[in-house]
Formats: sequence, structure tokens, C-alpha cells
Amino acid sequence: MSRSRWARGVLVLIVVLAAGGGIWTFVAESEAAGEVVVLNPEGESGTALVVYHPGLSGYVPEVVGAFADGLLEEGWRVERVPAGARAPTDLSRYELLVLGSPTYWWTPARPVSRYVERVGNLEGKPVAVVVTASGQVERSRALLEGQVRDAGGELVLSLPLTVWRPNVDGDPRPNEEVARELAGRAGREVAAGLGENR
Ligand SMILES: Cc1cc2nc3c(=O)[nH]c(=O)nc-3n(C[C@H](O)[C@H](O)[C@H](O)COP(=O)(O)O)c2cc1C
Repeated sequence: MSRSRWARGVLVLIVVLAAGGGIWTFVAESEAAGEVVVLNPEGESGTALVVYHPGLSGYVPEVVGAFADGLLEEGWRVERVPAGARAPTDLSRYELLVLGSPTYWWTPARPVSRYVERVGNLEGKPVAVVVTASGQVERSRALLEGQVRDAGGELVLSLPLTVWRPNVDGDPRPNEEVARELAGRAGREVAAGLGENR
């Protein structure tokens, strides 16, 4: 094969991969529609708003769901909604805001960042962040923590969970199972901690 033909082939491959990556990212970052779902409406220990970006694989809804289960176990009312146009920005009814985000190109998912921008001033609201990634979660976690602090939120928890990288070194169980356990425990601890201050 001639050199120029080879070079053209490589160029086409690069363009196709870039386009594919671009489409993949566009789909992943697309804002999800969805109503607020209320869990344990009678819960009296506190009320939490859980705003999350569902992503593509179902990992985020699963671990955010486990975190919410921890709150429910402590008698909290939980309102859950994708980070989109229907996510409430008036937080006066909530004792806790939970943000759940995947990592896209080392950054929190745009719908979650845009949601925090729409809220504007978090007015000292307690905020827990759950950030997921295949393995490289640190940068996006730090970015979301920083955005919460800059918006005046009180960061009460920051939980990184990974799909591929072990969440607990040496734990023989499936990584997803470990992630769910860590998320549930974190939900219980945050609820108990905030419950004491009420
Ligand atoms: C467009 C795109 C970009 C991603 N970028 C990263 C990344 O920079 N670092 C990383 O560890 N994982 C990355 N991931 C993996 C996701 O963070 C991981 O699968 C996530 O926790 C669940 O999101 P998902 O359900 O949308 O895949 C990326 C996934 C997608 C779809």
C-alpha cells in the first residue's frame, strides 16, 4: 500500500473515532427529562432532594439509589429527580441536597453543573456529592466539590465510586456490590449526622 494511501486511511480512522467520541459524549451529556419521585412521603427525620445525571450504563442511578436507601432507613423523606429542567431550584423545603454525577472526560456531567448554576446560591445548605467514574474520579470530584463550595453550600460528604478501579482494595466481592454498600452506609451516616443537629 502506498504511503499516501496509508496516511489517508489513518486520517479517516482518526476522523471516525473523533466523530464517534463526539456523538458518544453528546448522548452521555444530554439532559435527562423526568419528574420528581417521592420516596417515603411520611418520613419525618428530614427531607432530602437527590439530583443526579442518569448517564448511559445505569451505574449512577444504582449507587445514588443505594445512598437514598440509606437516608430512607433513617426515616428520611427522599425526593429524587434527574438533573434537568424539572429539578427544583428552591431548596427551602430540604435539609439536604444530594448531587450524583458520572465523570465525562475528567469533569462532572454538565447537567449536574448546570443545575448547581441554576440554583445559584446554596445558602449554606448541607450538600453530599456522589461522583462516579471508570477509574479516574479525583479531578471531577474536586471540581464538583469546588462548585458546591463556591455556590455557598456546606459539603457534608464527598463519595467517589468507580466502576473498574476497586472501591475497596482486596475486597473479593463484585465492585458494584461494594459500591452499593459504601453508598448505603454513607447515606445512613449523613442522615444520622444531620439528624443529630436538628
Ligand atoms: C463520554 C464519556 C466520557 C467518560 N470519561 C471518563 C473519564 O474521563 N474518566 C473515567 O474514569 N471514566 C470516564 N467515563 C466512564 C464513566 O464515568 C462511568 O462509566 C460512570 O461512572 C457511569 O457513567 P455512564 O453510565 O454514563 O457510563 C466516561 C464515560 C463516558 C460515556
